Amino acid sequence: MIFDDLRAIQNQHGYLPGQQLEALSKRTGLPLFRIHGVADFYPEFHLSRPPEVSIRICAGLACHLRGAGHLQTGLEQRFQGANKRDLTIGEVSCLGQCDGAPAVSINDHIYRGVTPTQAEALALTALGGSALPLMPTEDGSRNLASDPYRNSEPYGALRSVLAMRDWNGLIAQLKASGLCGLGGAGYPAGLKWEAVRNAPGPEKYVVCNAHESEPGSIKDRFILQRLPHLVIEGMILAGLVTGAQKGFLYLRREYQRPEETLRQEIQRCYQGGLLGNNLLGSDLSFDLELFISPGGYVCGEESALLEAIEGRRAEPRNRPPFPVTHGLFNKPTALNNVETFANVAQILINGVDWYKGQGQGGAAGLKFVGISGDVRNPGVFEIPMGLPVSEVIFDLAGGMADGKKLKALAPSGPSSGFLPASAAGVRLDFKSLAAVGSMLGSGAIVICAEGRCMLDMALNAVRFFRDESCGKCVPCRLGTQKLVDILTGWTHGRGSPADLVLIEELTEALRLASICGLGQFAHAPITSVLQHFRSEIESHIYDRRCPEGVCPMREPQ
Ligand SMILES: Cc1cc2nc3c(=O)[nH]c(=O)nc-3n(C[C@H](O)[C@H](O)[C@H](O)COP(=O)(O)O)c2cc1C
Ligand code: SF4
Ligand code: FES
Repeated sequence: MIFDDLRAIQNQHGYLPGQQLEALSKRTGLPLFRIHGVADFYPEFHLSRPPEVSIRICAGLACHLRGAGHLQTGLEQRFQGANKRDLTIGEVSCLGQCDGAPAVSINDHIYRGVTPTQAEALALTALGGSALPLMPTEDGSRNLASDPYRNSEPYGALRSVLAMRDWNGLIAQLKASGLCGLGGAGYPAGLKWEAVRNAPGPEKYVVCNAHESEPGSIKDRFILQRLPHLVIEGMILAGLVTGAQKGFLYLRREYQRPEETLRQEIQRCYQGGLLGNNLLGSDLSFDLELFISPGGYVCGEESALLEAIEGRRAEPRNRPPFPVTHGLFNKPTALNNVETFANVAQILINGVDWYKGQGQGGAAGLKFVGISGDVRNPGVFEIPMGLPVSEVIFDLAGGMADGKKLKALAPSGPSSGFLPASAAGVRLDFKSLAAVGSMLGSGAIVICAEGRCMLDMALNAVRFFRDESCGKCVPCRLGTQKLVDILTGWTHGRGSPADLVLIEELTEALRLASICGLGQFAHAPITSVLQHFRSEIESHIYDRRCPEGVCPMREPQ
């Protein structure tokens, strides 16, 4: 596996020296350009020696709202004049700790809720050559309604399915429950598993997408920490139903604590005969491998993720064909989100009626949502699907931070765009959010209080897409940069009415000609802000004034 080889070289040398890559090419027979192309693509790998200490402050929406900019400026002042070989300070995309913003990565160790003093102390520890501490384990209740095993032995659904072997019955229950993919696209899980089951051939795969990397997305981290048994059980059940004998759990590398939890749970399963050959003494087998992602946001796109597991650059594939027939290694693949897998045992143990009854306003099931930004208690909450977003903000998350008023909300990070406060009554389910021109996505709610500039928010969100574009298609590679240029111009008082036409044209090009969802939704932050906060944007363009006093409105000196 190319990533293991690259990791071994990087662990030994601190980076990937050219000679070592040449030697790897000779050893493995892989052309050097391919090895280089892979190493160059993924942020985990360094082709030149990195500084002793690399401090990277999260620039994602939630951290931007919670003081990341000040933290960065403070650290830059503190370490002004430091030799670039010793220490560098920069930005990084969302680290998956949006409820503990601002988050910081120091030599790839992730810390949440970091104050300038703490960041300085950690940087000095690393500069002194001492080992950096691991982030403390998250405490928290495991007593969740989503867990059908609160008072019983886990893996009960797997035991009874293995005894009954009613694979079609299981698919029928999934279909009847209305379980839709909870990673963003909302495709019915029962239909997906049925398609993989019906696909011809003996070699099939199950893949769990645990890459969550969009600003605001933190619910999979929570589920993996607290309900790892449900995710693993869902994957094994998917294997049995579809005929796949191998699964990969694709985890973002920043999730160091969930990784530990998962390794322990997987080991327990192997020891207990729940994974491996002859599951629970039967003639059926299923192996599960944890795959640590070397990459950024685009690796969460399903076909890019498959490319990564295959050891290539994580560039999304053209579809069709879809992974259900042509997935991992071109074989039928059941690929689902963490939460989708975690729902399966709930449905099988508690029954379809119970599951449907958990939702509100016609929606089915329970949902985990993350809420971050300007709320008093950011975090992950287990809610009935269909709960109004206002109840999450004002009841569960303790209301607005600093007693301010709600100005805007992104129901699911940058790709859902922003809604005005007047939409806070909208229910958190697929249909209700689509009806207001947004989406449930993965349930990554980001809250903006009064005083926030919506142009500043949109610019932050569009920058995220620009930074994370894989560059495979021109509209996305150039279009996201163009959007950033235009919006940056507006924040500096360089707007022109012609820009508004250009934004419309860019939006059309991005939507129609991008291969994957990253490019297709990259316009959402600014088109939604133009729709709901147009006068605020027009003030920037026509009056060269930021109504909230946030934007610089002049060129940097
Ligand atoms: C750029 C991009 C990033 C994505 N990131 C994730 C992710 O981190 N986790 C996830 O489950 N789905 C992600 N998705 C959606 C996946 O492509 C896919 O639809 C999903 O994993 C399928 O699982 P589900 O049907 O259970 O939702 C992403 C999509 C795009 C376009
Ligand atoms: S839309 Fe963007 S991220 Fe997606 S494949 Fe094209 S360039 Fe890559
Ligand atoms: S950790 Fe900073 S936005 Fe998610």
